[in-house]
Amino acid sequence: MTKMEEFLGKFPNQCEEAIRIANDIFEQRISRDISGYRDRRGILVCGVGGSAAGGDILKDYLYKKIDIPVGVNKDYELPGYADSRTLVFVNSYSGNTEETLSSFMQALDRKCSVVTITSGGKLYQLSKENNIPCIRIPQGMPPRATFAYLFFPMLIVLEKLGYIRIQKEEIQETIRMLEDLKAKCKDPEKNGDNSIIGLLDKLQDRIPLILTSEIFKGCAWRLKSQFNENSKILAFCSTIPELNHNEIEALSQNLPYSKNVFLLLLRDRFESSRLKKRIEITIKIVRDRVDGVFELYSEGEHILTRILSLLHKGDWVSIHLAKRKKIDPIPTPKIDLIKKELGQY
Ligand code: F6R
Repeated sequence: MTKMEEFLGKFPNQCEEAIRIANDIFEQRISRDISGYRDRRGILVCGVGGSAAGGDILKDYLYKKIDIPVGVNKDYELPGYADSRTLVFVNSYSGNTEETLSSFMQALDRKCSVVTITSGGKLYQLSKENNIPCIRIPQGMPPRATFAYLFFPMLIVLEKLGYIRIQKEEIQETIRMLEDLKAKCKDPEKNGDNSIIGLLDKLQDRIPLILTSEIFKGCAWRLKSQFNENSKILAFCSTIPELNHNEIEALSQNLPYSKNVFLLLLRDRFESSRLKKRIEITIKIVRDRVDGVFELYSEGEHILTRILSLLHKGDWVSIHLAKRKKIDPIPTPKIDLIKKELGQY
């Protein structure tokens, strides 16, 4: 078993531990009075790469649950609307990523209500120096293997501050589902999971175009990134209905390179009837142009479970693909090189 498989095998436990860590820190160690963090007019999550995934998923999860805008910022600069009425999460696993540190400094300048999540580094130091509430998470993992620690603490903070109510059952269902999926996905060959085996065969020499509905956009981006970082393959993603207003024109052409692409649909059994119909029509138009269509379905009842079930399945697929390609999914030498060449921030 590779180290990355070990991390992924701990994902359900990590979710529980992340909830515990956040509850504990919130109750006992946030020295600053953060009652002023309530009733902000918007929420913004800053971070890049593996540390941004929690933000993307949070945005999807809150889509129907909250009546204020939620944004994700993956750049040096904060958007113009971020001000003293904005609750800002600044997430960097290492705590040393320059884009995120830049966002942090701007958020302080603009007097945003800031909470940081990190395992250490400069972000931890700066949070301490500026008396900013910081949720410190365990060290020693690749950032993308720490999704649970970068995501659940935001939910807990939002709940403690009165922005959302999290039902106990949705957390329970999610953890249960993740345990089930882990058992099924960790060894698809042994478990005879043909959907995953067929997908892995296709991924050997084809480019996935991951397609999903708006509410699972974060999962699609996460899967694209996991394919890029873990399996070192190209992957692209898009959403429907949007794809029906642009890519469909290119996908329906007889382009020589389209045969190198296949559609990987991330689906949900609660899709509206109109969306289902759109997907059917889209498949009908593109089926013979691309090299096949695969579907992965979300599982569970609650939206949290459905989102995280897709995310977890995708994570396993990316790791199995790396294994088939005989590469270690952990090292990301070019990401490190760019950070090194940019030098100290
Ligand atoms: C590496 C990874 C990267 C990092 C990104 C930002 O596992 O997933 O995408 O997450 O380079 O670094 P951090 O997360 O330390 O801010």
